Amino acid sequence: MLMPNMTTVKLDGQHDGRQLRNALGRFPTGVTVITTRAPDGKLEGLTANSFSALSLDPPLVLWSVKRNASSLPGFLASGHFAINVLGVAQSDLSQRFATPSENKFSGLVFEDGLGGSPVLEGVLASFECQTESTLDGGDHVLFVGRVHKLSYHDGEPLMFNAGRYCRAQPLPMSAEMQAASAMWADLG
Ligand SMILES: Cc1cc2nc3c(=O)[nH]c(=O)nc-3n(C[C@H](O)[C@H](O)[C@H](O)COP(=O)(O)O)c2cc1C
Repeated sequence: MLMPNMTTVKLDGQHDGRQLRNALGRFPTGVTVITTRAPDGKLEGLTANSFSALSLDPPLVLWSVKRNASSLPGFLASGHFAINVLGVAQSDLSQRFATPSENKFSGLVFEDGLGGSPVLEGVLASFECQTESTLDGGDHVLFVGRVHKLSYHDGEPLMFNAGRYCRAQPLPMSAEMQAASAMWADLG
């Protein structure tokens, strides 16, 4: 049975767009900065929480960018990108790359990854990718990337939930849950 205080909305074209955002915001995500180097050498980057694992074999990931993003032409032209997964202390980096600016990279330390895509110093994980395909995603363009190189270290991820930055708190685990989670670890 539905919860008595559940909000239910039919998407009939007349609906309030905030309701879709509200419901999507109930799904917490990590936060990434996705970067590339355009063929003319210009560095592009944006904050994205649309990043997701897609396939283990072959190793594929996906993310989407809104059609009016200023970085979209650079991502389309370059054919490479780097996913930088942010740690809990990096909300300032998230804000920087979510704010339009001529040079979002000013003062930042980074290495050149695949195709020259910037891999930012201090991130929790990075995936250097070649663009495998792009797909129409309504008001977004979906990028599928093949991972050629990855790096990671232990640490706490930055999370985004209901429009706010937050942190992940592990639940206390029963013996049964510990056994199950060991099995999930094998599954990746
Ligand atoms: C937590 C968070 C997640 C975001 N996720 C995305 C995303 O997945 N795709 C997207 O196009 N924009 C996303 N944005 C918004 C972009 O980061 C923002 O519009 C940015 O200015 C786009 O940069 P650009 O216009 O320089 O390309 C997100 C913003 C925040 C704060």
